[in-house]
Amino acid sequence: MDNSISIENRFLHAIEMGLGAWQWGDRIMWQYGHTYFDEDLKALFDICIEEGITLIDTAEVYGLGKSERLLGRFIAETQPPVLVATKYFPFPWRMTKKALHRALRHSLERLNLEAIDLYQIHFPSPVMSIDRLMEALVEAAAAGQVRTVGISNFNESQTLAAYSALARNNVPLASNQLRFSLLDRTIEKNGLLARCHELGIRVIAYSPLAQGILTGKYTPENLPPGNRGLLYAEKITKCQPLIKLMTQIGQDQGGKSASQVALNWCICKGTLPIPGAKQVEQARQNAGALGWRLTDEQVEALDEASDQVN
Ligand SMILES: NC(=O)c1ccc[n+]([C@@H]2O[C@H](COP(=O)([O-])OP(=O)(O)OC[C@H]3O[C@@H](n4cnc5c(N)ncnc54)[C@H](OP(=O)(O)O)[C@@H]3O)[C@@H](O)[C@H]2O)c1
Repeated sequence: MDNSISIENRFLHAIEMGLGAWQWGDRIMWQYGHTYFDEDLKALFDICIEEGITLIDTAEVYGLGKSERLLGRFIAETQPPVLVATKYFPFPWRMTKKALHRALRHSLERLNLEAIDLYQIHFPSPVMSIDRLMEALVEAAAAGQVRTVGISNFNESQTLAAYSALARNNVPLASNQLRFSLLDRTIEKNGLLARCHELGIRVIAYSPLAQGILTGKYTPENLPPGNRGLLYAEKITKCQPLIKLMTQIGQDQGGKSASQVALNWCICKGTLPIPGAKQVEQARQNAGALGWRLTDEQVEALDEASDQVN
């Protein structure tokens, strides 16, 4: 049986940036419902679409389903086509392919869609083999419920295993979603980024602003709220020279912000960043990372400064 997916598999390679939707409905990490509300999310979604940012990344677990539900609602109220990427979470009690098919059906219901453009496995499963997970994705593709398939947080050997398992069924592995920013260059240093490029797997860069730290607004005196304050306290102190350089480079580029420099750097490295946002102004500013390029010398200088922090 030919299980090839009909959507142009390389569609992600034509996309420079997307929008992350973890913030949509998440109270614990992001304070949804305290500092921002549904109307803020709708406004920033609209701005992104207006700016041509049409790939939205969500997951069944974001806001316990709220993120997918909001996205489904916003899409229904929008004219231009939106590309939806969502994720299956391999909880340890999900031991069979059936579990993935059930979760996928629930995602489709929440999103109010017949098919998902990119369906990703959020993490490798502690109980299901990669072969088994990929078989389930192939079946979902054959059933027309997903147009392309991807993985997330897979290391090099896991990525190769997923790539080969899918290739045996003529289904390409479209993407690997990985943490990547000027504050975390692990995948660049351990060869995973290069290996993905070699295999034509699009690397989707998550937390490209290091969860807000690379915007420059947080300082040792002004730590981010919640978990991030604890998580990043030391890095925030260490990364101030990097932030200073980013700000300087932004000025040299005609008034770009540190956030725009951080996102443009991800693009220059051949990845597709998906910054999250809570307010319309954040999304508008992030959209300004497109339409220009850092020079090779600027990328090199940023690499050197980031090496001092990492
Ligand atoms: N696959 C995975 O395991 C995984 C893991 C994490 C994330 N993701 C995906 O990647 C997306 C992005 O990652 P992320 O949300 O962790 O972090 P991020 O994109 O690096 O940072 C987002 C946060 O930075 C702040 N921010 C964004 N733009 C700003 C601007 N222009 N000016 C000032 N502040 C700004 C906002 O928080 P404050 O205003 O509160 O500072 C926002 O919530 C997620 O939404 C999700 O879709 C995937």
